[in-house]
Amino acid sequence: MSQQQWTAVDDYFTEVLIGHDPVLDAAQQAADAAGLPRIAVSAPQGKQLQLLAETLGARRILEVGTLGGYSAIWMARALPADGRLVTLEIDPVHADVARGNLKHAGFAEIAEVRLGPAADSLQQLADEGADPFDLVFIDADKPGNPVYFAWALRLTRPGSLIVVDNTVRAGKVAEADSTDPAVLGVRRLHDAIAAEPRVSATSIQTVGAKGYDGFTLIRVRA
Ligand code: SAH
Ligand code: DHB
Ligand code: MG
Repeated sequence: MSQQQWTAVDDYFTEVLIGHDPVLDAAQQAADAAGLPRIAVSAPQGKQLQLLAETLGARRILEVGTLGGYSAIWMARALPADGRLVTLEIDPVHADVARGNLKHAGFAEIAEVRLGPAADSLQQLADEGADPFDLVFIDADKPGNPVYFAWALRLTRPGSLIVVDNTVRAGKVAEADSTDPAVLGVRRLHDAIAAEPRVSATSIQTVGAKGYDGFTLIRVRA
């Protein structure tokens, strides 16, 4: 099996299940024009986030790691008109592109991009006494995963779902002696989940347009 084949299959699923999406295409074009890295979730992965949010009946969504707002648009599509999406981004250029894309997608009222290190913004949300989030998508710097997971637990409620992207790292997650900071971040996340009685979790390996990676689903126990 080759990357070429995985991409062809993602292209096929995108064509047959998602189709032409001018809003998402424009968002990707704006991200490219601004020189953002092409590391947003794939269209099938974005749709999965939307479906999860819809299944949860999510009214409040938190994202850690905005980039150009591509995954944020997918998740915002699941929200009711009075829903809320807060997405955290450290890079001012990324945050600007995301604000433009979310506005163009019609989510200027629903979505808020908070600029700064996610750990600071998460502390700020807790200090503000933010209402619990129904869904949290963690997709920023991978060494930060354990810290973001701890905050996600504080900012959710029983029954909420926490999704963490990129938790397989082309299989490197299984290397117990790895010194790669991203791999360590993902392994420490799994240790933290294992030590946390308030959650139930699984990790799933994936292949696709973005290569061999995967994601972790964490349910806060009801
Ligand atoms: N969720 C996006 C992709 C996010 S890429 C999508 O699928 O469309 C990861 C993003 O996290 C990048 O934009 C990067 O600038 C941001 N990031 C990295 N370190 C961060 C930190 N400490 N705090 C907040 N954002 C961070
Ligand atoms: C990278 C980050 C991501 O969130 C992703 O989905 C793929 C790659 C990266 O930093 O390389
Ligand atoms: Mg990612």
